[in-house]
Amino acid sequence: MKVIVFHSYKGGTGKTTLALNTAINLARRGFKTLVVDADLNAPTFDSIFPDVKPKFRFNELFEKQDDNIDTPQLKAEDLLANSGIDPKLDIVFANPKPKFGQGLLSMDKNFHTLALKKLIEAKKEFEKLGYEYLVMDTSPSMNLASINAIIIADATIMILRPNQYGISGTTFLFKELYSMLGTLKRKDFMIFNQVVPGTPKKFITKWEKHFRKELNVKTIGVILCNCGIALNLLHGNLILDDPANVKFTQTMDSIVDNLLKELSKE
Ligand SMILES: Nc1ncnc2c1ncn2[C@@H]1O[C@H](COP(=O)(O)OP(=O)(O)OP(=O)(O)O)[C@@H](O)[C@H]1O
Ligand SMILES: [Mg+2]
Repeated sequence: MKVIVFHSYKGGTGKTTLALNTAINLARRGFKTLVVDADLNAPTFDSIFPDVKPKFRFNELFEKQDDNIDTPQLKAEDLLANSGIDPKLDIVFANPKPKFGQGLLSMDKNFHTLALKKLIEAKKEFEKLGYEYLVMDTSPSMNLASINAIIIADATIMILRPNQYGISGTTFLFKELYSMLGTLKRKDFMIFNQVVPGTPKKFITKWEKHFRKELNVKTIGVILCNCGIALNLLHGNLILDDPANVKFTQTMDSIVDNLLKELSKE
């Protein structure tokens, strides 16, 4: 099983949209896929999948860990729900009413060290259940829960709205991550999203070069700003098969092609 984590420096860059569309794309290719709402600060799956009712949520796996040892502990398996979109796509929800400063949202390093152990166990359980891809949507910027997700990742995809602060902020985030964690065996990639139509090609080439030269990070996709994407999400549609958005579907296909090719290299 490969773990793919979507992350960003700033909020609103398109993590949720692209994590879900990547997961749907993988499921449609026949891979057993799980997508986890690990954006614990601002979960979204309850509004995106209003008809799916999970029994337990991602937070509970960690926050119940101090329970009396006599009470049965939750297993990763207890969190699963089918997406209703594709039989191969399951989802894990987060608590839609986050308790700020508590549990996974606390800054307590000891709690997060335990949470990391639990996350590693959960990853093994998901693998045993036959998942081939685990896609994780995270909260932006540096926070301990997102860092734990990045630690267990085989690939991190940083989503960036390319502008001055987007480029410098993402560069800073990568440098911090590398000084804190190294690259381990993880592969990191960029996607430029919400790129203003008409942006000169030479700008895009310059940004790609910047991340390749400064950080050895490859850009695997460039997605134009397209209000049709936001409009689909507004109506609860994630699968952008409609004729007005063929370009987006094609771009997602090429991003997933690139990703699979890169992940198959050792
Ligand atoms: N290429 C695009 N063109 C136009 N709108 C887009 C594009 N990608 C995403 N959006 C829209 O931008 C908004 C933010 O996207 P999304 O929620 O996926 O970002 P996010 O990174 O998950 O945000 P957050 O950090 O708040 O979790 C949504 O309204 C989404 O529909
Ligand atoms: Mg999001």
